[in-house]
Amino acid sequence: MARLQGLVSVITGAGSGIGRASALAFAAEGACVVVADLDRGAAEETAASIGAQGGSASPLQVDVTDAAQVDAMLQHASERFGRLDVLFNNAGIPQGFTPVEESSDDLFERIMAVNVRGVFNGCRAAVPRMKAQGGGVILNTASTAGIRPRPGLAIYNASKAAVISLTKTLALEVAQYRIRVVSICPVATDTPMLATFLGPDAEEARERFVATVPWGRLNKPEDLARAAVFLASPEAEMVTGTAFEVDGGRDI
Ligand SMILES: NC(=O)c1ccc[n+]([C@@H]2O[C@H](COP(=O)([O-])OP(=O)(O)OC[C@H]3O[C@@H](n4cnc5c(N)ncnc54)[C@H](O)[C@@H]3O)[C@@H](O)[C@H]2O)c1
Repeated sequence: MARLQGLVSVITGAGSGIGRASALAFAAEGACVVVADLDRGAAEETAASIGAQGGSASPLQVDVTDAAQVDAMLQHASERFGRLDVLFNNAGIPQGFTPVEESSDDLFERIMAVNVRGVFNGCRAAVPRMKAQGGGVILNTASTAGIRPRPGLAIYNASKAAVISLTKTLALEVAQYRIRVVSICPVATDTPMLATFLGPDAEEARERFVATVPWGRLNKPEDLARAAVFLASPEAEMVTGTAFEVDGGRDI
């Protein structure tokens, strides 16, 4: 039996990278997926790939920084597939290496708006729906950056630490309603975002990053997709509030 059979899921940032790999994996495990992304074309591509696999998906253009759009996204899941079992707040944006004193207000506002407010918007909109339904799962993509930061990424690191703390708080608030909330903490992952973290000397920077991972490689998006499938599934019933590290030992 498929591990997410019949579950209705919403994944943000599902037009690319970790979100796309997770959307494909969720669908392969029997979930219906609302494929949400700021980039409409990218969302449609992911949904088409799911359709070609024989899965069930609905693409949607959503800006997670806008609470009304996030609410409409969950409403869309209910109208299209009848309920909401799993919300995966995965959309995020990176920071290029910036010494803290050179970080602009605009950079701060933008990263916090997507990485923190976006996740908050999702959590706040999902809880009443999941309560009414008798349970659910919320997954939030944080990062090893929120646990073991690298220099030059102060705003991004702080945004991911905020996601980890928000997740723990919410897990305490909603456990009584059978809602689990988990943050996922990937180490550097081979997606389009990685180039921003690596900067101009990408080859050299990549080697430096790999050297800090005991397992000896970076993540592939599928490493996170497999973790997300587990965490979304009933197999993870006793897992809530944790910052689930998928990092080849980087955070030790
Ligand atoms: N790639 C890494 O090294 C890495 C490491 C740790 C954590 N993460 C986190 O993983 C998550 C996914 O990143 P990825 O590596 O797959 O990146 P990605 O750039 O491949 O995908 C991110 C997706 O989010 C979408 N997005 C951006 N802003 C949005 C908004 N306001 N509303 C809706 N969608 C929006 C983009 O259009 C894109 O499709 C992010 O939260 C990121 O911070 C990434």
